[in-house]
Amino acid sequence: MSDPHAADAAVPTFPMARECPFSAPRGYAELRAAGPFARVRLPTGRTAWVVTGHREVRAVLADPRVSADIRRPNFPALVEGEQEVGARTRPFIRMDPPEHTRFRRMLLAEMTVRKARLMRRDIQRVVDERIDELLAGGPPVDLVTHFAHTVSSTVMCELIGVRRGDPWFRRVTGTLGSQVFGGGASTAEGAAEGIGALCDVVEGIIAEREARPGEDLLSRLIAGRLAPGEVTRQELVTTIAILVVAGWETTTNQIALSVLALLQRPELLAELRRDHTVLPAAVEELLRALSVGDSIALRTATEDIRIGDQVIPAGDGIIPLLASANHDESVFPHPSDIDFRREAKPHVAFSYGVHQCVGQNIARLELTIAIGTLIDRVPTLRAVAEPHEIRFRHEGIAFGPEQVLVTW
Ligand code: HEM
Repeated sequence: MSDPHAADAAVPTFPMARECPFSAPRGYAELRAAGPFARVRLPTGRTAWVVTGHREVRAVLADPRVSADIRRPNFPALVEGEQEVGARTRPFIRMDPPEHTRFRRMLLAEMTVRKARLMRRDIQRVVDERIDELLAGGPPVDLVTHFAHTVSSTVMCELIGVRRGDPWFRRVTGTLGSQVFGGGASTAEGAAEGIGALCDVVEGIIAEREARPGEDLLSRLIAGRLAPGEVTRQELVTTIAILVVAGWETTTNQIALSVLALLQRPELLAELRRDHTVLPAAVEELLRALSVGDSIALRTATEDIRIGDQVIPAGDGIIPLLASANHDESVFPHPSDIDFRREAKPHVAFSYGVHQCVGQNIARLELTIAIGTLIDRVPTLRAVAEPHEIRFRHEGIAFGPEQVLVTW
């Protein structure tokens, strides 16, 4: 194992800021030019490897010698205290197989393409209702709070079986809103508090569904997994809380940043309005270009790992940079251009390998409906501020704008 605390002024610091919110940091291109791996210094003072090449990012994410277990000594946490909190709460996103597989399987059956399609009508209704509210309230309005956040938190509530009229609805969306809009997610304690509050609410919903089962995901998991003893109550609570947070924060940022990117490029908006069949390709291209979940995938090498002519020593932290892979010019020429007609190549915005996003079918559907419906129903939509006047969240699990004031 190489010395994780070695002082070396030449080692760049991580995370790197984006010069343009719609592209990867310029520093990633510089690192890629020097080779597919580089050492960086993290805010915790540790060093870790970042992986920058598309091929190498996929190879690392698919390698069984690479662990996602947050308890490993050099786990490359980006926030002080994150590792301690994770080691205590044990979210399955930070576990390895076979432990991880048990929780993932439980959710996968609920998130197939078929199941996601069954949600189409409900997601369309959620989006239409939010747009009705926007139009009734009139401009100017903040799209992050009043569209991206409300759409994605409502969809996550409906996914677990909590409808808008349900008294639990306000409690779930309240804990989500306060996690980011209250600023807590940028510290490990804040994030832990937020997750703790959400776990309390989820526990309450589970108790109620046990007493009065419905047709929803939670009721199915209670009957199929909790009752036969396949998972403990605590495990079910944590898994549902992680599912809700993972699906809400990423999608909120991806919707808000996508709309902002489109508002800066009238030619792309015009293309989408002219030809609706472009929308699915546009959503994929926006996922690639914006890569809001750039550094969600955090790993540790469990053995010396040779990829190409580089060896990552056993025990070292590894961050496969999803935005860097998605901007690797050898796979995506002119990677900063947002081009809906780009030749389809596999991006890694949802990661790759055993932890690849379980909610990607739902996310794709939600993004397609949210973006497509908004630009159709509000044809004169425009941003009030220029991108350089907007503040962006660099902490938290996803990158995105704090506020997007729009008018029409
Ligand atoms: C634009 C939207 C989204 C993006 C960019 C995104 C991105 C990601 C990424 C990069 C990972 C992998 C982390 C890793 O390799 O360690 C991940 C995992 C995960 N995502 Fe998503 N996600 C999105 C939407 C969603 C939605 C809507 C849901 C829920 C319905 C969801 C639930 C999850 C869960 C539960 C995991 C953990 C999977 C595992 O560890 O096996 N995500 N997501």
